[in-house]
Amino acid sequence: MQRVALLFAALVAAGAVSSCLFWREDPDVRMKQEILYQALCTSCHPAFEPRLFPDSKWQSFIGDHAHVAGITPDEEKTITEYLTRNN
Ligand code: HEC
Repeated sequence: MQRVALLFAALVAAGAVSSCLFWREDPDVRMKQEILYQALCTSCHPAFEPRLFPDSKWQSFIGDHAHVAGITPDEEKTITEYLTRNN
């Protein structure tokens, strides 16, 4: 019986660890998003720090700037995600 309990505990622990790993943000993705942001949003001014503004502000700034910057909807989505995840 004790073995079953141990096995069960091990399974629960393994599940907890793998769900943590699953939810952890991939640093590669973050870096690619940052590179895109730096490449597309710094031709007219320096890159603003993500934490300068809350999500709602970023969404409206990017809405305004997407057409001045001439970026695609996909790029706009990636940059919005980067800024609102790191603010
Ligand atoms: C074609 C030039 C140009 C590009 C490219 C550009 N911006 Fe801007 N941006 C401006 C100008 C000009 C201002 C300052 C005038 C203003 O506040 O409207 C500004 C200001 C800002 C501000 C400060 C707004 C405020 O009111 O304090 C933010 C945030 C911003 N830009 C974000 C971005 C992001 C994100 C991108 C990339 C998608 C981007 N910008 C690309 C021209 C540009």
